[in-house]
Amino acid sequence: MPTAADITAAVDALSAGKLAILPTETVYGLAADASAPLAVAAIFEAKGRPRFNPLIAHVADLEQAEEIAIFDDRARQLADVFWPGPLTLVLPIRDAGAVCDLARAGLDTVAVRAPGHPLARAVLFAFGRPVVAPSANRSGRPSPTTFADAVEETGDFARAALDGGPCEIGLESTVVALIDQPRLLRPGSVTRDQIEAVIGPLADAQSDAKRSPGRLALHYAPDAPVRINAEAPSEGEAWLPFGEPGPFSLSETGDLREAAANLFRMLREADRTQPAGIAVAPIPAEGLGEAINDRLKRAAGFVG
Ligand code: TXA
Ligand code: MG
Repeated sequence: MPTAADITAAVDALSAGKLAILPTETVYGLAADASAPLAVAAIFEAKGRPRFNPLIAHVADLEQAEEIAIFDDRARQLADVFWPGPLTLVLPIRDAGAVCDLARAGLDTVAVRAPGHPLARAVLFAFGRPVVAPSANRSGRPSPTTFADAVEETGDFARAALDGGPCEIGLESTVVALIDQPRLLRPGSVTRDQIEAVIGPLADAQSDAKRSPGRLALHYAPDAPVRINAEAPSEGEAWLPFGEPGPFSLSETGDLREAAANLFRMLREADRTQPAGIAVAPIPAEGLGEAINDRLKRAAGFVG
């Protein structure tokens, strides 16, 4: 486990305009000072990320979030219930210097989240200002859910890296926009039902590319082609079952939380065997299944 000196090293890297790999409860992030355009540019460079795809500003708490974004009652209610945790809110920007134009891809909105992982929180409280952190994968690849996977993806570009062990959730945060009507831009482990219980009905992102610029068709993809809703593997395919044992089983007991936590790691591990393809069993659509199926559809190259 990282020491206080490791946390200081990560904060120093951010202060120097360099990048740091940070664990969160969802996936590992590649972090930079949100107010520093050169540092933010280095993130886009390291990931090979299209510049029109904005980043999430990570903050220590609601107080820091309210300094950069304009919260209404619904936003405050959601933050009260789900922060710190795996929920990102897209809100009107208040302080355009604190989260630079490049980080927002020029939008007049900002995505903000207070992560729950103790190491991420320690860095954010010590740094005291917003930190942008996309998932630490190269663009289009599965998000890293272990320290080793994060270092393999973008470690060469980071001055500091904190090992927080395997990510508990394993899927990226739920993204909800509160610009006009509340809209689910990216399903995640905070489910649609949980959000609707707090603020009422959510509209879908649909294919409004301007509203959710990061929702590209081919995303989260391993090298091998992915076939979803498969009943069984074909010759040469690696097999990711659900509710059955197997070397790449998402969950032997058919547990959605476990499947979410295992998804990206199993895609990577299956991919390392260089199969002709990767076949994935059907995953039930309810609850957390919405987010798992969203990632699987994109890994397979379908627009969600
Ligand atoms: O769990 C997570 O959210 C992880 C960890 C590291 O915190 N981060 C993450 O970041 O998944 P990233 O960059 O891979 O995904 C950010 C998503 C993208 O789909 C992006 O398009 C969307 O948030 N986004 C960011 N700012 C936005 C904005 N102003 N309006 C609409 N969508 C936005
Ligand atoms: Mg990502």
